[in-house]
Amino acid sequence: MTDKTKLTADAWDELNFPRPTETDFDRIVDSALSRRGFLRSVLVFGSGAAVMGTGLLGGRAALASTTARFPFAPIDAQTDDAVHVPDGYEWRVLVRWGDPLFSDAAGYDVAEGGTVEASDRMFGENTDGMELFSVRGHQLIAINHEYANRDINLPAAQEGTPANAGDVLKLQNLQGVTVMEIAEGAEGWEVVIDSPFNRRIHHNTEMALVGPAAGHPLLRTAADATGTRVLGTLNNCGSGKTPWGTFLTCEENFNGYFGANGDLPADETLAAGYRRYGISADGWGYDYHKWDARFDVAANPNEPHRHGWVVEIDPADPTSTPVKHTGLGRFKHENAAIVLAHDGRVVVYMGDDERGEFLYKFVSNGFYTPGGATDGLLDDGTLFVAKFHDDGTGEWLPLTPETTGMSAAEILIFARTAGSRVGATTMDRPEWVAVNPHAIEGYCALTNNTRRGTRTNAGGDPTPVGGPNPREANQYGQIVRWFPHDEDHASTTFDWDLYVMAGNPTVHADAYGGSRNVTPGNMFNAPDGMAFDTTGLLWIQTDGDDSNTGDFAGMGNNQMLAGDPETGEIARFLTGPTGCEVTGLCWSADRRTMFVGIQHPGGHWPDGAGLPRSAVIAVRRADGAPVG
Ligand code: FEO
Ligand code: CA
Ligand code: CA
Repeated sequence: MTDKTKLTADAWDELNFPRPTETDFDRIVDSALSRRGFLRSVLVFGSGAAVMGTGLLGGRAALASTTARFPFAPIDAQTDDAVHVPDGYEWRVLVRWGDPLFSDAAGYDVAEGGTVEASDRMFGENTDGMELFSVRGHQLIAINHEYANRDINLPAAQEGTPANAGDVLKLQNLQGVTVMEIAEGAEGWEVVIDSPFNRRIHHNTEMALVGPAAGHPLLRTAADATGTRVLGTLNNCGSGKTPWGTFLTCEENFNGYFGANGDLPADETLAAGYRRYGISADGWGYDYHKWDARFDVAANPNEPHRHGWVVEIDPADPTSTPVKHTGLGRFKHENAAIVLAHDGRVVVYMGDDERGEFLYKFVSNGFYTPGGATDGLLDDGTLFVAKFHDDGTGEWLPLTPETTGMSAAEILIFARTAGSRVGATTMDRPEWVAVNPHAIEGYCALTNNTRRGTRTNAGGDPTPVGGPNPREANQYGQIVRWFPHDEDHASTTFDWDLYVMAGNPTVHADAYGGSRNVTPGNMFNAPDGMAFDTTGLLWIQTDGDDSNTGDFAGMGNNQMLAGDPETGEIARFLTGPTGCEVTGLCWSADRRTMFVGIQHPGGHWPDGAGLPRSAVIAVRRADGAPVG
């Protein structure tokens, strides 16, 4: 029988909402046209070499080598239960799941399962997106805890199934967000236990819902007749940082926490939304609905509409109420990359991480000025969705009542449906977006899509092969980038190319061998986390298949690489322990330390014995020089 505690979000979707196979003749013709368009238009790094077919291999050999751009010697792939970094670099653990944020939680024992009482007083599980803030001389990290491993947080005999309300409360406390002060002492960076800035935000923390959809009938519940107050932020994946110093946490696979004690609602608006967003009677095994009625959609059908948003948290004020911004749309948010347009409008790029879903952009109506009011800058504006054309151009399609036939609030609550109505490009699972600080360009990691070209998305939209999604049954992923016209992120048109197509050149001689900047020495699969450093290097983290066999032979464990946006060269910097995903990246204020997240490690990392523990590590150069 399937071990439901080990299934990915993709696998759950497939179990609960199997997608139709694409057999339509028109679809096949479309795919063929797209392939030809791809060959004509997708060039890499200005060399004129098409990335597919024979041009791929010839181009790889011709790639200029500029290793001097990287301040480290690239390392080999690894398969052991350890972290590896280049010679001249060193790392240590900053904080692990279960480490106390407050001295009264010092006794939390992960091996014994810990107590419910201490479970919101220590560092949560499964670290993800993080950002560093300098506040009145203190350095604070705000960091996500994406999900909980039920099998190792509940008594072993329960096999990952909550047995009572206390079990559910503990799981709810282990996830969400941590804000923690850190300080550098003689031994390196440590968490400042009992700092007044330390805070846990979890699945029951009170928050405000604001923006154009706030108060809409679809957001009202028995507990909140106003539709403006909600408990909890769910499945906190990637992050963002506003110019005004707040943290953005992005709610991704929120659907998995809901279930039904009874029939799902019959109302067609509700039912259609549940289908598109993957809400099922069984949920994903968290069983919250059996012990906490808020998560029972038979009793509280609108509660799922109150999740799937981007949430703003002020790390400088531990008493502040987190704010869910409906203006940024509701979907399975990966991260939120913010940049200012030339005129000061706020632009937020956001991916919806599910097979065949979309890439979005929000542009504010108002203008940011340092020190000025920020009210409305993440709500009053226009949400756009990306349409990529095969000729290497693209456009941001506005989601408005005129373009979608939906009300302004429904566009935001059911953003996926709005995107489908305007014909947005179905993507290979958009993960993190990163914006180059030295050029007007954005990058999105399209992690993989093994159903590309063979199955629709959850809304029934076809997923043709072509454009920025050029490979059928794409098991490796790619990174697309766009160059806004007029060199302005507020522009509604752009040019695009693929920065890299991951692949395995030791196994495949065709497009599955990867683009020419992929070599046997740097290969990887499933790009996911991404961030630029101040020098303009693009750091790429992976969440892929680490079997090191077959299509993935020689790639080793999940890893972190650095990419040069100008030459396309990519170099491996760090390898994670077996079983892990590398996700989350930020730097100390002096840029001499890089903080890297290690999520769901296997084996016995980092302690060498006992349970594996998700952790944040601090990486620095032995000579103390800046690392980005
Ligand atoms: Fe939480 Fe799509 O990664
Ligand atoms: Ca991710
Ligand atoms: Ca991922």
